Amino acid sequence: MRINKDQYPFLRACRREATEYTPVWLMRQAGRYMKEYRALRKKYSFLEMCKNPELAAKVTLQPIERFKLDAAIIFSDILIPLEPMGVEFEFAKGEGPVFHHPLRERKDVEKLRVIEPEEEISFLMKAIRIVRKELEGEIPLIGFSGAPFTLASYIIEGGHSKNYILTKGLMVQDRPTWNVLMEKISEVLIRYLNAQIRSGVQALQLFDSWVGCLSPHDYEEYVLPYSKKVIDGVDKKVPLIHFATSSSTLLELMKRAGGDVIGVDWRVDIGEAWARLGYDVAIQGNLDPVVLFGPVDLIEKEVKRILDRMDGRPGHIFNLGHGILPNTPVDHVAALIEAVHHYSKR
Ligand code: CP3
Repeated sequence: MRINKDQYPFLRACRREATEYTPVWLMRQAGRYMKEYRALRKKYSFLEMCKNPELAAKVTLQPIERFKLDAAIIFSDILIPLEPMGVEFEFAKGEGPVFHHPLRERKDVEKLRVIEPEEEISFLMKAIRIVRKELEGEIPLIGFSGAPFTLASYIIEGGHSKNYILTKGLMVQDRPTWNVLMEKISEVLIRYLNAQIRSGVQALQLFDSWVGCLSPHDYEEYVLPYSKKVIDGVDKKVPLIHFATSSSTLLELMKRAGGDVIGVDWRVDIGEAWARLGYDVAIQGNLDPVVLFGPVDLIEKEVKRILDRMDGRPGHIFNLGHGILPNTPVDHVAALIEAVHHYSKR
């Protein structure tokens, strides 16, 4: 049965409308835990797959063919806009992203290019158009970007960081440079997310994965205005999920920055998080990705526990609290999705 596009359970839940069951998708649902993904990765590098629209579309659809997911997320990476902006990086084997020339001074930041994503990241826009055709009447497609802070941290640190000493240092000690950097990133993100909407995505997620390293004060002072600017600058015709990890002390501030849905990790009780946020916003989360390594009865117990905390209130999207981990058993992913649909049936 084909579904009218305004009736997709995932999109209804984003708008806090009643659904017959709780919709579920998984962050990083396309990836190394799937043998279909690993088979393609033998032939192509990760960035080659991102930059080839046909391959990116194919990888996006791999988990959709295998599981009864309620949404697809376009296969790409939060770092993709940085290369055309003039920040080069590579994925070194086993290390994650490595930037050879991190930006730490005003003169470097001034050189960053404010790009036209429609032209300069056209491969992503093409991948979105291919996937939309494939999924019409089945499930909606989510687009995404990193949030300004998380992207700034990669640009400044030169890769993943444990303590964010350089990022926080620049932020508090050289505010003019910080402002120029965050302004430029924000402008690119507004253009990038709107271009994804024009290409066909039906929802967006903003990943502020590492913002939980900040105090509430610093978040409010140095980050919130830019996240808000991005969210305010994006066409309101599609719902936006505002996600962060280790964000329990930042939830109210994240809501102030914006988003139709707030995404939370497993370190918070999702029921308490929603009560604090208020029921005028939807919520996404929050199974610990490590639970998927446990036996199926544990997975079912955890699913029930999370659903119980939601009291059957409309506006919950089931997800993990962060991306699915490599080596996660594929059968357990199928069992999780089935459990969410089964136990939430109304
Ligand atoms: O959710 C999806 O399925 C869409 C695809 C997606 C990827 N990355 C694919 C990917 C999304 C939404 C992301 C977001 C992303 N990328 C984030 C934010 C979400 C989060 O997890 O916090 C961040 C911080 C990145 C940056 C990034 N990309 C890192 C640190 C790494 C290396 C670590 C790792 O898991 O290997 C990547 C690589 C990456 N991005 C892979 C995938 C499938 C693995 C690449 C491979 O095949 O080796």
